[in-house]
Amino acid sequence: MPIYEKHDYPLVDVRRYLEPGPVVLLSSAHNGETDIMTMGWHMMMEFTPALVGCIISPANHSHELVRASGECVINVPTLELANQMVDIGNSTGTRIDKFKEFGLTPQKGTVVSAPMIGECFASFECKLANGKMIDEMGFFVWKVIKAHVDKTVTAPKTLHYRGGGEFMVAGDSLDLSARFKPEML
Ligand SMILES: Cc1cc2nc3c(=O)[nH]c(=O)nc-3n(C[C@H](O)[C@H](O)[C@H](O)COP(=O)(O)O)c2cc1C
Repeated sequence: MPIYEKHDYPLVDVRRYLEPGPVVLLSSAHNGETDIMTMGWHMMMEFTPALVGCIISPANHSHELVRASGECVINVPTLELANQMVDIGNSTGTRIDKFKEFGLTPQKGTVVSAPMIGECFASFECKLANGKMIDEMGFFVWKVIKAHVDKTVTAPKTLHYRGGGEFMVAGDSLDLSARFKPEML
């Protein structure tokens, strides 16, 4: 195994190495209006209840909708949706209907009013669990209350943002389950 020779690196680019993934499409609704934003900055925070933390900038129209409704759907796109995913993240829903603009199919969820995205193989309906850091950092903690997954998609080519317009596409998978403590699986 190599011992790497590392060099000084700009702090602003650290994100290129620590970007989590996959990039998701967060859909929202409030007062009859819907929106979608692309989101790379999110993290799982708890097994049960399933908690997801994420940064939603107040500059985004989605911020207003999720803040007012306390709800969202986190949808997971794959390679086929790469172009739409970038375009959704480079436009604002203030004046356009992103479902129509990007040819996506809204599907009614079972609990929240935000629509799921039909073209995504996994959609998670969420309610706000903790909003204490919204004002300070735009940080929302969501509780997933209903999960919808097409289990026939066994090796999803999810997209992982590395900054600078570059994405890694999930590919190889490795089964290391035998090395895990059972409670950590
Ligand atoms: C790959 C990618 C990842 C992004 N990740 C985030 C994120 O984690 N948080 C955020 O606030 N904005 C993120 N954005 C920017 C929003 O998606 C973008 O501002 C979007 O246009 C907001 O749409 P809206 O105004 O309709 O809500 C990302 C954009 C791209 C392209």
